[in-house]
Amino acid sequence: MPASPFSRRAALSGAVAAAATVAAAPRARAADAPGRRFAGKVVLVTGATSGIGRATAKAFAAEGARVGFCGRRRELGREVEREIRQAGGEATYLHADVREAEQVEAFVDGVARRYGGLDIAFNNAGVERSKPLHEMTVAEWDDALATNERGVFLGVKYEIPHLLRRGGGVIVCTSSAGAERVRPGHAAYAAGKRGVEGIVRAAAMDYGDRGVRINAIRPGTTDTPLVRPAGVPDADWEAFKKAWGPLNVAGLRRMATARDIAAAVLALAGDELGYVTGAEIAVDGGATAGGPQVWPQGFPKPPGV
Ligand SMILES: NC(=O)c1ccc[n+]([C@@H]2O[C@H](COP(=O)([O-])OP(=O)(O)OC[C@H]3O[C@@H](n4cnc5c(N)ncnc54)[C@H](OP(=O)(O)O)[C@@H]3O)[C@@H](O)[C@H]2O)c1
Repeated sequence: MPASPFSRRAALSGAVAAAATVAAAPRARAADAPGRRFAGKVVLVTGATSGIGRATAKAFAAEGARVGFCGRRRELGREVEREIRQAGGEATYLHADVREAEQVEAFVDGVARRYGGLDIAFNNAGVERSKPLHEMTVAEWDDALATNERGVFLGVKYEIPHLLRRGGGVIVCTSSAGAERVRPGHAAYAAGKRGVEGIVRAAAMDYGDRGVRINAIRPGTTDTPLVRPAGVPDADWEAFKKAWGPLNVAGLRRMATARDIAAAVLALAGDELGYVTGAEIAVDGGATAGGPQVWPQGFPKPPGV
């Protein structure tokens, strides 16, 4: 995550726990339309009320999938559902907090019941918590890991039986470039994302011979509410991104968009990448591939530097 000149976004508002209840399966709309990449597929996304999850849910729906997604902010969930349906796609928002086992189980089962099974799951819900390690309370640590690591374990745990019933499927989980290039203050975040990658590797071993592929993506810093502080005017944010990109993304020199990350998730979920499993895929514009050497001011540069 970049060191932002803006103040940190307010903590995400809490939500009242409530297990999802679901209605009977609706008729397919744009879903099942021939010629679309994910026509006939049922896709589940955690954390799709915002950012990367939201863009990915929309991208899957635009490619013909029927999408069940969760998050805690009901208004935003309904808004995403409406946007997808207005565009001719099919999606259902179900309230679930990924920290709660019963809610994750109800969400996963609810999506499968509504759409008649499950083919693809994107375990994406996550929070960014930044603090020097010794200042982090035990409760803060537990809460960050409950979302970023335990939430992914719960998702995979309840998705696998549905995928096995289908004879296989695909899972993608959101790690971070921050698992590779750890930032100061990111002990909990890095631990959680490394944990996600451990889950992915182990599950790839456990279920590969039964047709389940599972991979982690490592997005670089992405223009979402996770990094954009609330209340910053568009012009200021654009100016910040323009200055930030060349300093922090050695390759493509710009911050990622949520659609950049969604495109990678769809590629991993597609049959073309059918031999990729247990992997961590960087989607970071080259940010972790390397970078320029910065020479301290006032010291002579040796030849060749
Ligand atoms: N943006 C970046 O620079 C970046 C870089 C690398 C990795 N990532 C990862 O990408 C993922 C998505 O982040 P984003 O950038 O799209 O952030 P975002 O815009 O803040 O979205 C986060 C999503 O996760 C959901 N969420 C958080 N806690 C949840 C919980 N306990 N239960 C259910 N849903 C929960 C939020 O929904 P509710 O608030 O409605 O619950 C929201 O939909 C995260 O795992 C993040 O760590 C982001």
